[in-house]
Amino acid sequence: MITEEPFRTIVEPFRIHSVEPMRLPTRAERASALQAAGYNLFELAAEDVPIDLLTDSGTGAMSAEQWAAIQRGNEAYAGAPSFGRFRAAVTGLFPFAHVLPTHQGRAAERILFTAIGGSGLIVPNNTHFDTTRANIEFTGATAVDLPVAEGLRPAARHPFKGNMDVAALERLLSARAAAVPLVMLTVTNNSGGGQPVSMANVRAVRAVCDRFGKPLFLDACRIAENAWFIRTRESGYQDVPVAGIIRQMAALADGMTMSAKKDPLASTGGWLALNDDALAGRCRNLQILTEGFPTYGGLAGRDLEAIAQGLREAVDHDYLRYRVRSVEYLGQALEQAGVPVVVPFGGHAVFIDARAMLPHIDPLAYPGQALACALYLEGGVRSCEIGTVMFGLHPDGTETPAALDLVRLAIPRRTYTQSHMDYVTEVVERVARRACDLPGMRIVSQPRQLRHFTARFEPDELTTSGTGHAGAYASARLRWAGMVRGLSWPPAPSGTADRWPAGQAVLLAAARPGHP
Ligand SMILES: Cc1ncc(COP(=O)(O)O)c(C=O)c1O
Repeated sequence: MITEEPFRTIVEPFRIHSVEPMRLPTRAERASALQAAGYNLFELAAEDVPIDLLTDSGTGAMSAEQWAAIQRGNEAYAGAPSFGRFRAAVTGLFPFAHVLPTHQGRAAERILFTAIGGSGLIVPNNTHFDTTRANIEFTGATAVDLPVAEGLRPAARHPFKGNMDVAALERLLSARAAAVPLVMLTVTNNSGGGQPVSMANVRAVRAVCDRFGKPLFLDACRIAENAWFIRTRESGYQDVPVAGIIRQMAALADGMTMSAKKDPLASTGGWLALNDDALAGRCRNLQILTEGFPTYGGLAGRDLEAIAQGLREAVDHDYLRYRVRSVEYLGQALEQAGVPVVVPFGGHAVFIDARAMLPHIDPLAYPGQALACALYLEGGVRSCEIGTVMFGLHPDGTETPAALDLVRLAIPRRTYTQSHMDYVTEVVERVARRACDLPGMRIVSQPRQLRHFTARFEPDELTTSGTGHAGAYASARLRWAGMVRGLSWPPAPSGTADRWPAGQAVLLAAARPGHP
């Protein structure tokens, strides 16, 4: 009998017709690359990184149709047809009156906040991404995060942990309305674990904005993944195509910033789109100043073509089903291995709760950075700290722990296969078995802004407690040296809770399959 029953395996909905060879450097090579990089994974050479999960930004594989579209790129300075095709693709999903191409998402942010930011102002968001926060703070304004409480609890299961706390927004606007030039919503909420925002939440935020006469802007980098979650999780949307869900969400907003390096499947690019004619005029002048003429912004015509085609592919249901499932596949494997991960899994990445995994490391000794370095050392997997290194330093020079210390394993779109994900699981499992031996990190040098890109670190022996878990090693530095040599990485004997810092054993046991 013929059946339409779905298969358990969701295959990659594409064939690979061009490959990029990679090699795994030896442990000694990885250790010296890490040391030379100042234990900052942004400083590693990409050839030394076999599995690069640093970001999903601009790292996706383009399709044959995108490469074909690139050949149609028209490089006229003004009025290129490539811009027309780009604008048509953008406004087909986001029908804003003005579309200003930029070289990246952060350029759109810089233009927007240069135009409307300034000292004493406040910009609320569910959670600001680091470049958004930095661009706001650079103007002297304050960036305020208002996530729902569930969004701050990595183990809390909630279908829309990316939502904004609408009551908190209302309180902020009641107290300081005059200081708020606009409200932002980041979909999905990258810094909050890649969690989606529900349509109901966007509507509720819109209603509050209307009451206070404030514009609502979307940071829409991952809006297609967000829309897929709405379709699969929010009642009333099961029969609405993703493109229709995106249009509904855009209709609730007054404008957007976008990085085309994420959901639009391009290697570079972004845009600012908005309805307000006067604000668009001011933004266009800023665009010309640093990006370029308005019909190309910071991009070549061929990039505009790649984005236009990528946008069409980004809303394809087979692609989105595979995309979200492949992230879930890695997340479930780690969860089953007992690794504390943010649940439910987001759209573009699996986030490991480094603070839960390494409770012996003080947040100001950067457990996320320690874990990210260990993953590279162990198996050449590059990940990204999203925690106190990224968010702990304030404009006045003070430092406090971030709300969470996460390590993000971002999955580039259409780039790695299921066996790559199986390998990543193995690497994380091996590090997790010896988590309590990892030392914290100390910052040796750092800039005042966006420090995570260029700060230099070293394994720290002073801020690392938990010597009771240190096994054979006398100090954190020696423990690190042991890791470098790859010494003694036996599996933790089953049932030996004393191998795990208190609390973690419970979390790990609870996460094991078969546990109630
Ligand atoms: C939510 C979010 N907003 C903005 C940006 C900035 O985009 P870009 O890297 O293109 O400047 C990013 C990049 O990762 C992001 O994730």
